Amino acid sequence: MAPHIAIGDIAQYVGQQVTLKGWLYASTRKGKLMFARLRDGSGFTQLVAYRPEVGDELFETLKRLGQESSMIVTGTVRENSRAPGVPQGYEVGIETVEVVQGIENYPITPKDHGVEFLMDNRHLWLRSMKQWAILRTRAVIKKAIVDFLDGEGFVNIDTPIITPSAAEGTSNLFETNYFDRVAYLAQTGQLYNEANIMAFGKVYCFGPTFRAEKSKTRRHLTEFWMVEPEMAYFDLDDLMDFEERFVTYIVQTTLEKCGQELEILERDTTALEKISGPFPRISYDEAVERLQKAAAEAKNPEEQAELAIKWGDDFGAPHETALAEQFDKPVFVYGYPAAVKAFYMEPWPDRPDVCKSVDLLAPEGYGEIIGGSERMSDPDQLLEAIHKHDLPPENYRWYIELRQFGSVPHSGFGLGLERTVAWLCGLPHIRETTAFPRMLYRLEP
Ligand code: 4AD
Ligand code: MG
Repeated sequence: MAPHIAIGDIAQYVGQQVTLKGWLYASTRKGKLMFARLRDGSGFTQLVAYRPEVGDELFETLKRLGQESSMIVTGTVRENSRAPGVPQGYEVGIETVEVVQGIENYPITPKDHGVEFLMDNRHLWLRSMKQWAILRTRAVIKKAIVDFLDGEGFVNIDTPIITPSAAEGTSNLFETNYFDRVAYLAQTGQLYNEANIMAFGKVYCFGPTFRAEKSKTRRHLTEFWMVEPEMAYFDLDDLMDFEERFVTYIVQTTLEKCGQELEILERDTTALEKISGPFPRISYDEAVERLQKAAAEAKNPEEQAELAIKWGDDFGAPHETALAEQFDKPVFVYGYPAAVKAFYMEPWPDRPDVCKSVDLLAPEGYGEIIGGSERMSDPDQLLEAIHKHDLPPENYRWYIELRQFGSVPHSGFGLGLERTVAWLCGLPHIRETTAFPRMLYRLEP
């Protein structure tokens, strides 16, 4: 029997007889010729059957097979520059076919379906070429993240998902019963990372985080993955330098490894190719001025209203987009008003209403992909901030103690994996960046 190969490796088998195990993606007929596309998870390739060669019985069998029939095919690999496929330029002349399960009624057809229908059928939709390309790119991005951090001497320490207290505000907590107590699904692993750096120096956690986001937007999931590096003896400038190198590496690795996926997604990569440090750095103060100017120059009253902002306001999506549009690289905005950020951020020297936070806004309207800051290192100040945010101090006793036993300046950030995938793949909505998204109105499948 011919060796079973992955379609992804087909280029190595030109002229040889091979076995492919997969699913029928599409088929068309032209008289005595049948062109089918087979996918096997590693790629897509064209199968060709010529009636006089394969015989009537096999040809009739092929004719009856509907999309997504599972089948094992043997045949000979040929080069054909016009043959569609991933990788492109190869086809297989069919010799035998074993039908594993023939079907005729696959619900997702090449016609246009509405997105709600596709989301309801997400378990099947994953098989289509674009979804395949997105989720393969996501896997490459995840690996680039881990490779970079491991290469920089970080230790990957996992943080708990079931937590007793809030870290990123109390309005979006997922509550759960923990025996006779209330617990929450983690919004972040950061607080635990801060304990871990005092033992390991540089650490990261990388896993799912949970926020009960009650609004429907293109950028929010209720369950999303975040990588959170945290570093001891690190200030805000160190943080920006590091994020710049990190993001540059992720973008360049994705461009290098995902050429074929980005082509399937019709992602114009011109803008991505320009991404390398240094990235522009502007203060929140300057950002507000730029937005006020943009609002004054707005083309119509709606846009003007959307961009309206005064010092102290947090940015909404239109603000982030308008700011990012002024640069062709990701842009750092640092020094936000403390009131719009989390409780743990180090205050700006001599400006207690400003904190040492920094967000990184992606170009092309993809918004905030990173949030981070220098952390408060004084225990008394931290306790005061906890009171100010109405958080129960007894829950943060251990966190304050980190500042009582060898406190050092330290910083860290969180990069949202799904927003990064949306940006690099050029997707208008975050829902396709994960296999089974969780959103306000979606818990199934
Ligand atoms: O800015 P955030 O809330 O920061 C933190 O959670 C910090 N504790 C991170 C840290 O310093 N260790 O979230 C960080 C990033 C955002 O920039 C965004 O990319 C992503 O996480 N994010 C979301 N992605 C999808 N859906 C949501 N609901 C998200 N909320 C945040
Ligand atoms: Mg943020």
